[in-house]
Amino acid sequence: MLIDTHTHIDMENFKDRFDEVIQTAKEYGVEKVVIPGVEPAGFARIVELCENYANVYGAVGVHPEELNSYSEEAEEQIKQYLKHPKIVALGEVGLDYYWDKSQIEKQKEIFERQILIAKEVGKPILVHDREAHQDSFEILKRTKAADVGVVMHCFSGSPEFAMECVKEGFYIALGGVVTFKNAKKAKEVAKIVPLEKLLLETDAPYMTPVPFRGKENQPAYVKFVAQEIADIRGISFEEVAEVTGANAQKLLKI
Ligand code: NI
Repeated sequence: MLIDTHTHIDMENFKDRFDEVIQTAKEYGVEKVVIPGVEPAGFARIVELCENYANVYGAVGVHPEELNSYSEEAEEQIKQYLKHPKIVALGEVGLDYYWDKSQIEKQKEIFERQILIAKEVGKPILVHDREAHQDSFEILKRTKAADVGVVMHCFSGSPEFAMECVKEGFYIALGGVVTFKNAKKAKEVAKIVPLEKLLLETDAPYMTPVPFRGKENQPAYVKFVAQEIADIRGISFEEVAEVTGANAQKLLKI
């Protein structure tokens, strides 16, 4: 079963054609999708979509680029929403040193606070780590985040770092980047990470895989990610779909 474990189809771009996007996903064999939250203002919409569509699941959390939306009230909302049966994870949360290096300490503090909430509720964590591999890893390890499950979303580290993450029990989620011709690192990661630790995602509307690179991404295109990983590993498309789908179902209980 193909599952898109990370897709931002709650965004404005998809508002008037949500049904169509879900329908197209089904036609491509994508049976379930997970919409991660980025800031409190968007949580209600995600819950609404989850309640209206059987195959849509969600996550709530404050993204490192949305730090200013974090407050005690936000924290309370995250705790409450995480109790919802279709809110299956905390996320996306993490560290991003690419966009903003001025608030590193604050990023770390808020990342850690949210991890503790996930641990309290017992739901897995969808991690955004951009150019912050060492610090992300240190915090996840120290807080024993793997106890509830960790997904390194849109994994962008080296093959060595991927294996370090796997050793800690983290899952590695790969998206459109693996289909890019020059993405040597991502292709190597796709090759060496045990299939039992791989998840698929689109990160739509971003990161569109070949052959639609440059256009808007959507959950259906997770199929191209699965095909590329199958080609890289020399295994069948069906095996990639089946094992990564089972991984997602087991971890997210969906
Ligand atoms: Ni994302």
